[in-house]
Amino acid sequence: MSLYEKLLSGEEKLSLVGLGYVGMPIAVAYAKKIKVVGYDFNAAKVDLYKKGIDPTREVGDAAIKETSVEFTADPEKLKECKFHVVAVPTPVNDDHTPDLSPVEGASHTLGKYLTKGSIVVYESTVYPGVTEDICVPILEKESGLKCGVDFKVGYSPERINPGDKVHRLDTITKIVSGMDEETLEEIANVYSLVALAGVYKAQSIKVAEAAKVIENSQRDINIAFMNELSMIFHKMDIDTKSVLEAAGTKWNFLNFRPGLVGGHCIGVDPYYLTYKAEELGYHSQIILSGRRINDDMGKYIAESAVKRLIANDIAVKNAKVAILGFTFKENCPDTRNTKVIDIYNELLEYGITPVVVDPEADSDEAERLYGIEFDTLDAVKDMDAVIVAVAHKEFENYKPADITKFFNPAHATKVFMDLKGIYDMNDYKAPEFDYWRL
Ligand SMILES: NC(=O)c1ccc[n+]([C@@H]2O[C@H](COP(=O)([O-])OP(=O)(O)OC[C@H]3O[C@@H](n4cnc5c(N)ncnc54)[C@H](O)[C@@H]3O)[C@@H](O)[C@H]2O)c1
Repeated sequence: MSLYEKLLSGEEKLSLVGLGYVGMPIAVAYAKKIKVVGYDFNAAKVDLYKKGIDPTREVGDAAIKETSVEFTADPEKLKECKFHVVAVPTPVNDDHTPDLSPVEGASHTLGKYLTKGSIVVYESTVYPGVTEDICVPILEKESGLKCGVDFKVGYSPERINPGDKVHRLDTITKIVSGMDEETLEEIANVYSLVALAGVYKAQSIKVAEAAKVIENSQRDINIAFMNELSMIFHKMDIDTKSVLEAAGTKWNFLNFRPGLVGGHCIGVDPYYLTYKAEELGYHSQIILSGRRINDDMGKYIAESAVKRLIANDIAVKNAKVAILGFTFKENCPDTRNTKVIDIYNELLEYGITPVVVDPEADSDEAERLYGIEFDTLDAVKDMDAVIVAVAHKEFENYKPADITKFFNPAHATKVFMDLKGIYDMNDYKAPEFDYWRL
């Protein structure tokens, strides 16, 4: 019987190592078909899951309560499993070099409990070579087993998009790869249980690793181009969104928009690729230029806010500025690597302490990571400037009357920055508004 068949019959179990935005939804999806152990070394997070609480909001509390996933912070449970999926974070260090310590740490732990006949699939986003050159030696050393003989490995990058209710695990094609044909078949079969839109069998593990890292690099570069255009068009007093809408009528014009690039994927993954390229003697031209532009956008936006205040004869020091939205993307509680913090910090440099409101965000996390305490919407009144930084649904519903209420009624002109262009600019015309968008 193949491992796939043994999983289906309940004779063997699958484990998830790392139960975050990526790992937890996969665990829950697999648990509808087979026996699953969900292991995370964060005992507090595991306790939440056990209580039926989904802090990521990816599947919701009801699905967590119903799931048969055996949540645990005890790594010994991994011994009971034969098919392992590793979905731990892959951040960068302050100097933008890859921080592989979570992937290495998870491999050390898993290696200790790995048994003969197992398959280990990494899902974490990495540069080509990490699975075979870094993880496999750790697994071998810890387990005393030989890769290719006693256990096999594969790689299957994750494409889910937190907060996105359309592109889900069951609606997107999943790339799978394995160290040999037989392993690839097993991995493809197992993933077909949850990747209902189908699997794509990549030619090798390194190809699959590279595919993921370039998907996000391509996005990063395209957004950087839009951000550069936005800076150019502001100098020309042309509205970028209107230009893009016009250009978008051409059949092969790519539909990208300017914006802040935060989070732990698009703003991070390109550094994994450029790090490896650098190690091999190639210094990236395009990828790193894009990164620099995107990394500087928060500062650019804050400076633009200050210029708008000055242009409207509003004192900059101690100006009352509200930032609506703090997460790294819309309709998602995640504030890690948010670039809104760059706007906030830059405004502090000008003597402005912004009021920050984000009804979607994980406020404990924001306080822990940035020392920022959110205000409620009631605090957004008598403002000198309002910056809608994140396109949360709740903000999108605002009408001009709602926006007007945020401002100091004494101001002849309201400095209103709609970074993502979620409102109709015709509703915010001069002289009542000084409307600005990227
Ligand atoms: N979140 C996304 O949008 C997304 C999308 C596609 C790919 N990815 C990639 O997927 C990977 C995971 O991302 P995520 O957003 O789920 O991260 P996350 O931080 O939400 O979750 C990772 C989990 O792994 C746990 N963990 C870390 N080290 C561990 C260890 N040694 N043993 C056990 N558990 C450990 C953490 O406690 C955490 O709960 C990353 O490589 C990321 O780049 C993320």
